[in-house]
Amino acid sequence: MTFATARHLLSALVVAALAAAPVFAQTATQAKPFEPTVGQAGKDVVWVPTPQPLVEKMLDMAKIGPQDLHYDLGSGDGRTVITAAKRGARSFGIEYNPDMVELSRRNAAAAKVSPDRATFVQADLFETDFSKANVVTLFLLPSINMKLRDKILAMAPGTRIVANTFTMEDWQADQTETVSGDCVSWCTALLWIVPAKVEGSWQLGSNTLTLTQKFQMLEGTLGGAAISEAKMNGAEIAFTVSGQRYTGRVDGTSMKGTGPGGAFSATKK
Ligand SMILES: C[S@@+](CC[C@H](N)C(=O)[O-])C[C@H]1O[C@@H](n2cnc3c(N)ncnc32)[C@H](O)[C@@H]1O
Repeated sequence: MTFATARHLLSALVVAALAAAPVFAQTATQAKPFEPTVGQAGKDVVWVPTPQPLVEKMLDMAKIGPQDLHYDLGSGDGRTVITAAKRGARSFGIEYNPDMVELSRRNAAAAKVSPDRATFVQADLFETDFSKANVVTLFLLPSINMKLRDKILAMAPGTRIVANTFTMEDWQADQTETVSGDCVSWCTALLWIVPAKVEGSWQLGSNTLTLTQKFQMLEGTLGGAAISEAKMNGAEIAFTVSGQRYTGRVDGTSMKGTGPGGAFSATKK
C-alpha cells in the first residue's frame, strides 16, 4: 500500500467514524432509559416510593374496587395507580416530573395495565381538579396535606382519602394502620372519610336536634338532652341520647334512620 493510498483510507475511516458518531450517541441515549433516585428533587416534595405492602394496605383501607375513581396526587413511578387499576378502579396519576410520568407509563405497560385504567398526567397537583374522585391517595408532606384540606373537605361525603404517614393536623384520621414484615420505612397509612356537613338545627319528630360539628366529630342535644358517641362516617350519622342509639343517613337537608322508636326522619331547619 502506498503512502497516498494509506492516507486516503485513513481519512475515509475518520469521515465514517464522525458520520456514525451521532448515531452511536443516539443509540446510547435510547439504550439508557431514565432511572429515578430515591430522594430526587420534585416540585414541592422529593420522590420517595411508598413500599408496595403499604400501597396494598392503603388501597385495602380505601376498599377500592371497580366502582371507584381514584387519583394519586404526586404519583411518582406510578405504583399506587397501577395497583388501583389492577383492582379494577379507574385511576389517574398526577405527577409534575415528566420523566416520572414516562416511567409510570412504561411500568403500567410492563404490568399489562391499560392506559384506559391507569392514566398518567404531567401536571401540578395544585392545579388539578380531582373533585370527582371518590378515592384520593397522598404521600406528600403535612404542609401539603394542609394546603389540600379545604378542597378535600368540599368533596362528596364518603370520599376516602388515604395518606402515607402524614396527618391532616386536627382532622383526626378515621383509621390508622401500620404494616410490618416486608415494610421497613414509611409503613403507616391514615384514612379519612369526608363527612357530610350537618351542623345546625334539625326538626326530628317533635324535637329539635342541634348539632355542632368538627370534621367527623359531633356534639349537641336532642330535645335538650346531650348526645354522645356522635360521629359522621361519610353520609352516615350515629349518636346516643339517654342510652338510646340513633343511626341514619344524611342527604343534604334530609336525614333518615332508625332510633329507639323505630324509623325516624329529620329535616334541616
Ligand atoms: C413522596 S413521592 C410519592 C410518590 C408516589 N405517590 C408513591 O407513594 O410512591 C412524591 C411525588 O410527588 C411529586 N410532586 C412533587 N410536587 C408535585 C406537584 N406540585 N405536582 C405534582 N407532583 C408533584 C414528586 O415528583 C414525587 O414523585
